[in-house]
Amino acid sequence: MSKLSIEDLSIFAKKKGFVFPSTEIYGGMSGFFEYGPLGVELKNSLKQHWWKTFVQDRDDICGIDGSIISSGKVWEASGHLSSFADLLTECSKCKKNHRADHLIEDKLKINVEGLGADALNKIIRDNKLECPECKGSLKEIASFNLMFPVQVGADATKDSTAYLRGETAQLIFTAFKSVVDSSRVKLPFGIAQIGKAFRNEISPRDFLFRTREFEQMEIEYFIRPKEKKCPLLSKRQLDLEVLFYSESAQKSKKEQKKVKISQLVKNKVMGEWHAYWLAESYLWYTELGMQEKNLRIREHTSEELSHYSSGTFDIDYNFPFGWKEIHGNANRGQFDLTQHQKFSGKPMDIFDEETKEKMIPWVVEPSFGADRAFLAFLYDAYHEDKERGNIVLKLHPKLAPFKVAVFPLVNKIEEQALQVYLLLKKDFISMFDRSGSVGRRYARADEIGIPYCVTVDFDTEKDKSVTIRDRDTTKQIRVKITELKDVLRKLLDGEKFESCGKVLSQK
Ligand code: GAP
Repeated sequence: MSKLSIEDLSIFAKKKGFVFPSTEIYGGMSGFFEYGPLGVELKNSLKQHWWKTFVQDRDDICGIDGSIISSGKVWEASGHLSSFADLLTECSKCKKNHRADHLIEDKLKINVEGLGADALNKIIRDNKLECPECKGSLKEIASFNLMFPVQVGADATKDSTAYLRGETAQLIFTAFKSVVDSSRVKLPFGIAQIGKAFRNEISPRDFLFRTREFEQMEIEYFIRPKEKKCPLLSKRQLDLEVLFYSESAQKSKKEQKKVKISQLVKNKVMGEWHAYWLAESYLWYTELGMQEKNLRIREHTSEELSHYSSGTFDIDYNFPFGWKEIHGNANRGQFDLTQHQKFSGKPMDIFDEETKEKMIPWVVEPSFGADRAFLAFLYDAYHEDKERGNIVLKLHPKLAPFKVAVFPLVNKIEEQALQVYLLLKKDFISMFDRSGSVGRRYARADEIGIPYCVTVDFDTEKDKSVTIRDRDTTKQIRVKITELKDVLRKLLDGEKFESCGKVLSQK
């Protein structure tokens, strides 16, 4: 794991065009970011891969794209207007508001996840904690709702107050009946969505980790309430070994340990559906190259469960600022559909052709944060290579913003190299680089994670071939230009580098 601080990673991300603070020319705004030319490619690849894996490659999940603004009634029904809050404490001197749990955790280095206002007040009092900005005294803790209200239309009434969505999930629940009526979905099935969510976080921090505007990639998976067996659960998920931090280990301050998903099911730590979705979610990260040593699954303690959940397991990433959630997997049961049935007056039950019963399905929710995935992939890939003297961003080729760079060895053969570049550009996101030495160009490509560099040299004219260099090993192969596209396609699909061309001896 890189020791790079989150501040240094954000400087790197800005310098290379991955992420900028939003509206920086006006001084920026805390908790908002812009994805730059490389960042937007990486984030788009990540989202496309997610959509392909969980929607397009499966028969049991379809997608929607819901609206970002919706009426207050939706959020009243979902419980977000009453329960979606964090606890804050105001400084009586400088008037700055602090998120109480973060302030305590930062100062005392203890975990206070899930503790209520009384317990946090007591910790603040007992430890004589003060405002970290001005050392002023801290007021009694108050609850702060995270939903962003917006006024819709010209006539401002109480009823016209709407909200930016605090999670994409609710739009799936409100569209549930329309999807069932218009599509041929049959239980069990899922509805997926990728889109923006907004939370008025008290103290956004840690770069992309806690922002006020972010993107979620969520699935609401609907199952028969009585169906405890998951027919999709197979060896692939059961044999998966993960670092697991149980509720009891957290409470008794014991270590997290390695377990197989099959053990968690056998010991009834989680049901089969939950196990299936946790494993599939975990595998999405690792199949895109995320290192398993940086991942763990953590069970929520009963005190910290969201208002809608009867059981949640997070996938955490080992960031330099601690193990933190990048994915939440909640057992939402019938909570949301029942609430929407109650508040809208519209029936939310559906007819199940197999059991010939009407029912409100049960929901398991795998929820991925796109920005936190982006941050974790960036961290995981960041590697300072002492031998090369430069940074190597070891992003999975599927995520790399540019898939290939083309260089002329010297400027005299630039025309020929341009032809190769134009040949590739239509099929692969490609870059042409002619400036500086070839060594410098390799270093520049390494730093932004380009997996393959193609060099056109003096022999290209004669043997109609080029050299491909592998970012991670710096090994090189010689490949015919006529075969170049096929070879790159194979490489991007994961074929072994050495088997794709004539291996050249390394100087
Ligand atoms: N629908 C369930 C839900 O919203 P959550 O645990 O609050 O659950 C799910 O959020 C995921 O959304 C998190 O695992 C995280 O990746 C992302 N997320 C939540 N709040 C975020 C924030 N303030 N900034 C960036 N990402 C956030």
